[in-house]
Amino acid sequence: MVRNLVAKEIDIGIIGGSGFYNLINIANTTTLRVKTAFGSVDVIKGNLGGKKIGFITRHGPKHTKPPHKVNYHANALALFLLGAKYVIATNAVGSLKKEFPPGSIIIVDQIIDFTKNRKTTFFDGEFGLTMPDGRVKKGVVHTDVTEPYCSYLRKKIIESAEKLKLSVFPRGTYICTEGPRFETPAEINFFRMIGGDVVGMTTVPEAFLFKELEICYASITVVTNYAAGMQQRVTHKEVIEIFNKRIPDIVNLITEVIKNL
Ligand code: HPA
Repeated sequence: MVRNLVAKEIDIGIIGGSGFYNLINIANTTTLRVKTAFGSVDVIKGNLGGKKIGFITRHGPKHTKPPHKVNYHANALALFLLGAKYVIATNAVGSLKKEFPPGSIIIVDQIIDFTKNRKTTFFDGEFGLTMPDGRVKKGVVHTDVTEPYCSYLRKKIIESAEKLKLSVFPRGTYICTEGPRFETPAEINFFRMIGGDVVGMTTVPEAFLFKELEICYASITVVTNYAAGMQQRVTHKEVIEIFNKRIPDIVNLITEVIKNL
């Protein structure tokens, strides 16, 4: 069922791949078509761990949108309009370091933005937003991104992983590229030199938009491969395969986090 609605309906948003929605045990699901100033988004609403959840497939319900074409603005705004206080995302990345082998889970804490053609803000002059406390954000807005990911939610994820005896790395720097191509080995060497730990294509502008919306957002980042030049080739097939292997652990982790929020 799809119904149009713009109201406060959820506590927690989840952004992930379609593969993983099928495994996450959300009860009483309905699909809400949320209209935003940037387009409509289908959000699967339901209950999990006593909380109201809204799930979005980042690349669209049929995984048709490549990273540079994802409607990050509509996705983020839809969760905002539904009333999400927290958003947990999952992202696949390549590793720049031997310490983070494929299969590693990292609760990244920093970003270096190497995207080229993405609008990384809501506030380009005309857009205005009324925040839940009544403040209006509009015009020139400079957002503090000292903590690009919410440290409270990162802590909850790390503590939940400890409870589950699931090994996760508690921090890492995510280099975001434009894609959709993978990187050259020379780019990877450069990214490592400037302090990157992992490289992916989806955290920008997503993390920055949630910062603007003042929603507590964090990512469960999954290493699917060594980056270009560190292994023979990087293939999308491998990325999907390794990510899918970690889905049961990620589902358990998200379920535990939600219980503890
Ligand atoms: N590079 C960029 N994005 C990625 C990679 C990679 O090696 N692996 C998974 N997403």
